[in-house]
Amino acid sequence: MTTIGTAEVSPQGFGAMGLSHVYGKADEAESIRTLHRAIDLGINFFDTATAYGNGHNEELLGRAIAGRRDGLVLASKFTHRHGSDGARITARDAVEASLRRLNVERIDLYYLHRIDPETPITQSVGELGRLRDEGKIGAVGLSEVSAAQLRAAHAETPIAALQSEYSLWTRDVEVDILPAARALDIAFVAYSPLGRGFLAGAGPVEDDDRRRIHPRFQPEAVSANSRRRRAIEDVAERLRISPAQVSLAWVLSRDVVPIPGTRHVRHLEDNWAAGDIRLDEGTLEQLEAAFPRGATVGDRYPAAQMAFIPAETLPA
Ligand SMILES: NC(=O)c1ccc[n+]([C@@H]2O[C@H](COP(=O)([O-])OP(=O)(O)OC[C@H]3O[C@@H](n4cnc5c(N)ncnc54)[C@H](OP(=O)(O)O)[C@@H]3O)[C@@H](O)[C@H]2O)c1
Repeated sequence: MTTIGTAEVSPQGFGAMGLSHVYGKADEAESIRTLHRAIDLGINFFDTATAYGNGHNEELLGRAIAGRRDGLVLASKFTHRHGSDGARITARDAVEASLRRLNVERIDLYYLHRIDPETPITQSVGELGRLRDEGKIGAVGLSEVSAAQLRAAHAETPIAALQSEYSLWTRDVEVDILPAARALDIAFVAYSPLGRGFLAGAGPVEDDDRRRIHPRFQPEAVSANSRRRRAIEDVAERLRISPAQVSLAWVLSRDVVPIPGTRHVRHLEDNWAAGDIRLDEGTLEQLEAAFPRGATVGDRYPAAQMAFIPAETLPA
């Protein structure tokens, strides 16, 4: 169990983003069944954001947890984008709106989703700290910040969790972000631990799947990265487990909290079972040798979104 703020979270959380038509259509009834099954399995840590489906994701999660909220650790995120009146959205505006959509009294962990170039990070987390003191949120989190930004923010107000992309094909954080989080006793939440499905052998099927515009899902990148993925498939065959389980078991071996996402109960159960798998040293080394840091072909995001990822968090 990892402690985030004052809450203990399950070894894996559930990332709800894909339930809002990001990686293909999601059936609402199946989404709710999947969320309920996650609670039944023992997952207590649920991740959403104001940006996912423009509020749809928070509302869906709010509906799914109605009557079952006790013991759950709800996490959401905001950015200081412009509101309908043109003014920058404050942390307070965002938290009030998230509370309404989730239909809860308090959100256990609230992240700044991306640093705002117009707002100093100390100001953003300062606002979040005041909301924590008022009890509207339980703890303050950050997403995709550099080690220096994490230290500066933590000096302003205690940061409980850092959420950044981490998986076999995205290991950049190992250089200084993960060590910085550990040194400050900040929990590390690994997003897209299945490489947005790629490491589990999945990819875009529908035309409007967001991965279609991601550099790593362009044909040349897929063909280069698939050669590396062969190592995951080899381990999966040898151990008679799924590629998703190999990928997640590797992330779990790093002492972080992964938040895989899925629209399907069968994938959820597959992922949860990865918690019982311990990969031996030789297998971990085999996987790491196949995915050296910085070797993956293609940026993590399209250029417009890469602009919000601090340059010092990227491979040299
Ligand atoms: N902080 C941030 O900026 C940020 C950015 C991205 C994501 N996140 C968070 O991290 C969560 C997870 O990341 P993610 O959804 O991007 O990627 P992910 O968890 O790495 O992968 C999700 C994809 O993998 C597929 N999948 C899941 N389990 C599978 C299995 N056992 N076998 C085969 N395919 C499987 C899913 O398809 P099916 O639906 O068909 O199962 C989906 O397309 C998100 O939901 C969100 O909460 C945060």
